[in-house]
Amino acid sequence: MIYLDNAATTYPKPESVYKAIMDAMKDYGANPGRSGHKLALKAGRGIYETRELLSKLFNIKNPMNIIFTHNATEGLNLGIKGILKSGDHVITTTMEHNSVLRPLMALKEKGVEVTIVKCNNKGEVNVKDIEDEIKENTKLIVTTHASNVTGTIFPVKEISEVCKKHKLLYMLDAAQTAGVYDIDVEKLGIDILAFPGHKGLLGPQGTGGIYIKEGLDIPQLKEGGTGSKSHELFQPSILPDRYESGTPNTPGIIGLGAGIKYILDRGIENIRNHEKKLTDYFIKNLKRIDHVKIYGPQDSERQAAVVAINIANEDSSEVSYVLDSVFDIGTRPGLHCAPLAHKTIDTFEQGVVRFSLGPFTTIEELDKAINAIKEITKEIN
Ligand code: ALA
Repeated sequence: MIYLDNAATTYPKPESVYKAIMDAMKDYGANPGRSGHKLALKAGRGIYETRELLSKLFNIKNPMNIIFTHNATEGLNLGIKGILKSGDHVITTTMEHNSVLRPLMALKEKGVEVTIVKCNNKGEVNVKDIEDEIKENTKLIVTTHASNVTGTIFPVKEISEVCKKHKLLYMLDAAQTAGVYDIDVEKLGIDILAFPGHKGLLGPQGTGGIYIKEGLDIPQLKEGGTGSKSHELFQPSILPDRYESGTPNTPGIIGLGAGIKYILDRGIENIRNHEKKLTDYFIKNLKRIDHVKIYGPQDSERQAAVVAINIANEDSSEVSYVLDSVFDIGTRPGLHCAPLAHKTIDTFEQGVVRFSLGPFTTIEELDKAINAIKEITKEIN
């Protein structure tokens, strides 16, 4: 298959990721941080190495400020629900995924005030519109780094400066950017960073995490065994144990570490440049095809390697089905768990066919996708 669904999960992964997962299961598949025997220690070291690699990638001073979760959604829930209390106000945008919007809507039922700033039809946010919504009780601004529908990149630094100016917390959803963009939490002024392991970081599904800035006291969502302070009935307050109850996904986290090593070796700039080149090439060729409507900025400087299109008024699921069944090309149609983003770009009824490119996508694969789209448009009268 020509796999163009990397925004959902990157595939394939580097060979080193498969090997690391298999080794962690076959050679030292013990429970980390619990027993003191050699295999448990090796598993624990593997997890710590991934924490260190993430710290290097995101310029996080203390690896213990990274909490492993099962995906970005779990990290976002932890941050959002931990920070906001009844009476607090939070600002977000219409380009967010349901992983941000649904926790916020659940909190709205419990007395949290939620403001959703409208973006333009390319998915771009005006930072002034965010700043204008700040009130006395505003506590948090949470935004995506890049839309999973249009790829539109958000002005993270400008938003974080607004947060600093008004003494607010800034939480970034890096679901579509971690592993492809240079995210430096210090330089960008990010207080809480949620990231998936299975997308740009090239790890397996069931991995992800959240960075919580030193000193932020966010209540945990769950309690349980941590392997530390076993004599106490209350949850330890030390990080990361406070948030990491229960046996972790050890092979997954070690596989994630192998994904990050691959990224650091290949160079994050090289990956981003590869994806930029492909995105521009794809968009340039799509523009030449009649009946194709392209959404988003249409410029790789301003978008992630996500290209959303429609073919005339054809249903996006139908087009995606034909791409899969006739041309063996994998894409994602519909609403992409981001209904307000689709309302913003006016595709709530039709959805879009989303092509998302990855570090292993080639120009030859895109040529085949372009030819397939040309063939489909021939059916349009
Ligand atoms: N959030 C993922 C996507 O956009 C699954 O496809």
